[in-house]
Amino acid sequence: MTIRHAAQLIGGARRGLALTGAGVSAESGIPTFRGVGGLWTQYDPIKVASIDYFMEDPSAYWRVSKDRGRVALAARPNAGHHALTALEASGRLIAIVTQNTDGLHQDSGSRSVIEVHGSSRTVQCLDCGNREARGDVQARLDLEMPPRCKLCGGAFLKPTVVLFGEPLPQAALQQAFALARESDVMLVVGSSLVVYPAADVPLVALRSGAQLIVINAEPTPLDELAAVVVRGKSGEILPEIVDLIGG
Ligand code: OAD
Repeated sequence: MTIRHAAQLIGGARRGLALTGAGVSAESGIPTFRGVGGLWTQYDPIKVASIDYFMEDPSAYWRVSKDRGRVALAARPNAGHHALTALEASGRLIAIVTQNTDGLHQDSGSRSVIEVHGSSRTVQCLDCGNREARGDVQARLDLEMPPRCKLCGGAFLKPTVVLFGEPLPQAALQQAFALARESDVMLVVGSSLVVYPAADVPLVALRSGAQLIVINAEPTPLDELAAVVVRGKSGEILPEIVDLIGG
């Protein structure tokens, strides 16, 4: 019944907007941050993923990032990513705002993807600014730790993701809020909705009159403001919604 209601709202959307979080990539094998098996149940995020800690000890950062990077580079989009791509192609979604840095929405064929936490597919040297593909740096991690810049030899190569203590990419964030203000249906998928300012995107949409749909494995702080909450796996729920909407 709830899935039917969600399908009705999305099917009728003129300017639907999605916000996705780590949960949407969980079924592609990339562990989430919070919740069961989450990265932050193993590590302290402020230690592992803050810019201060990175600058202090880039090797410590890379030792954790090495495993996650290997998994993320091998990951393929799942049925949830593909369903969101289908919703964009059929005109139900105008864009996907994502907190994910794994690039799987783009791999799935989604066109309008706004990465508010950056991308882990590129690595940048903080000394000279040179950029390299993450795959190239990944291949060097067994040989040198921390990895060194190919151009200047610098020891501060950082994936182009937002670490704690760093500002978010302002253009992406502004675009996300502008789209939220114009949206009529806001679909949140696989986000714990506890990390700001990304979690403000659905709040801005709500304030602008959008109907909120939350699809998540666990409760979120915005559930009580939602028109529909569907609890479960996005890789199962989203394709079902696409089927219910039909062409
Ligand atoms: P979290 O790991 O905080 O939350 C993922 C959510 O997805 C949880 O609420 C899970 O219950 C849910 N979930 C897990 N598997 C799911 C599935 N198959 N289908 C649907 N839901 C599922 O991830 P985010 O909210 O994206 O930031 O985390 C936000 C930010 O915190 C990340 O971007 C990262 C992290 O620190 C930075 O690195 C800046």
